[in-house]
Amino acid sequence: MVILREKKSLLSKIATSDQHGENSPYFDGWKAYDQDPFHPTQNPHGVIQMGLAENQLSHDLIERWIVENPKSSICTDVGVDLFKDIANFQDYHGMPEFREAIAKFMGKARGDRVRFDPDRIVMGGGATGASESLMFCLADPGDGFLVPTPYYPAFDRDLRWRTGIQLIPIVCKSSNDFKITKQALESAYDNAIKSNIKIKGLIIANPSNPLGTTMDRETLKTLIKFINDKDIHLVCDEIYAATVFNTPDFISISEVLQEMEQDPMNRINPELVHIIYSLSKDMGLPGFRVGILYSYNDGVVSSARKMSSFGLISTQTQHFLASILSDEVFVESFLIENSRRLAKRHKVFTQGLEEDGITCLASNAALYVWMDLRRLLKKPTFDEEMRLWRLIINEVKLNVSPGSSFHCVEPGWFRVCFANMDEQTVQIALNRIHIFVKKGKENETTTTKNKRSRPWSKDLRLSFSSRLYDETTMMSPRIMSPHSPFAHSPLVQART
Ligand SMILES: Cc1ncc(COP(=O)(O)O)c(C=O)c1O
Repeated sequence: MVILREKKSLLSKIATSDQHGENSPYFDGWKAYDQDPFHPTQNPHGVIQMGLAENQLSHDLIERWIVENPKSSICTDVGVDLFKDIANFQDYHGMPEFREAIAKFMGKARGDRVRFDPDRIVMGGGATGASESLMFCLADPGDGFLVPTPYYPAFDRDLRWRTGIQLIPIVCKSSNDFKITKQALESAYDNAIKSNIKIKGLIIANPSNPLGTTMDRETLKTLIKFINDKDIHLVCDEIYAATVFNTPDFISISEVLQEMEQDPMNRINPELVHIIYSLSKDMGLPGFRVGILYSYNDGVVSSARKMSSFGLISTQTQHFLASILSDEVFVESFLIENSRRLAKRHKVFTQGLEEDGITCLASNAALYVWMDLRRLLKKPTFDEEMRLWRLIINEVKLNVSPGSSFHCVEPGWFRVCFANMDEQTVQIALNRIHIFVKKGKENETTTTKNKRSRPWSKDLRLSFSSRLYDETTMMSPRIMSPHSPFAHSPLVQART
């Protein structure tokens, strides 16, 4: 006799659900890179990683500081005396000198226009861990948070997966450079209420991921008024606060809050405002996992601190950061030099794209551009966007991230990171784009002659592989160096 039993899951619902948010092309692109990573000599035709918002432009400055300050590390002759104390210290408030230094740094990263209280600093495992803890403090499963689109794809994992909250998009469009309007805000809120979703707050990333833009004062005021009217929370992810390299200057929610509070007419409740911060971008230290939750709400500070036991920053890291961030002369010069290098890289990259007729949303911050490839789509659909994305990954061998993974409502936008590679790799990436565009245009001319007007995007897939035959002859002047890995490309040899 056969006994039919319902198949038992050995794992939890969370572990087996597909709500982790990682089933998106944003993460798929990383996998494509992992399988065939570019290396200038060992794999010069591999995929170049342009999907990772990392800042690798200023590590040398930190390296130099480390060499000059051996006492900041417990792994040196002069620092080892502190080993026992640091190895034993374990307190979820964090080391006082660390909290002091990070609060000061947060102020510096905002032009010293606001002061942060070290007693409100709560630690997390990167902004990722800090923002999840915040969600656990503010909301219950099923509650909703409004978030303007396009937004950082990992919010779906970090904020939603384990907490069970919902993210409700506020639709923003290219017609006004994806700015949040009062109407879009109200409409997203009203629709959620009609669908019986309890809205607990609004989440923004300022500077924006993926737009690379900063919010103006008026917009920030509108948001503060909105959340106060509705009596909901405002979560501001300011992870790129000091990663601003052009005007207009960054304006933190903390500054606007301070200004508005001073005017009694405003009736503002600061307890509704929370800031997420991290050293992953502004100091280029994502591996250190230093995340900060800064809340103006005592209840949130107290409960988040208890939760921070699940994701503390190691005392070794706190000790090192307390030393380096307390060196005000270094911090000041680091921030200036880092911005200068980012501005230069951004200029080189966007000008290179412009030479090929590719434009990006005008931006002043962060580690990527929001590239407009709408004219390369045969039709304005997300299927077409995916077709183009696959072509870019598989043939052009650049891992860029498609707009759909950022919940953008308009197909044809792509986020492209420019600060996680050296200058030579940037030039190689630009050259690949140059060849791609040139070949596409040639194709258009041929097909137009043969068949009358057809969009040049139509035959890109068929045509692009053939670029490899004449890659060297189409080389842009910027990469005609005798050291160029392209000149001896094994891929060219293999295919020809
Ligand atoms: C807007 C935003 N928030 C949070 C994170 C996660 O940062 P962390 O490495 O500090 O966890 C990122 C990383 O790309 C980000 O862009």
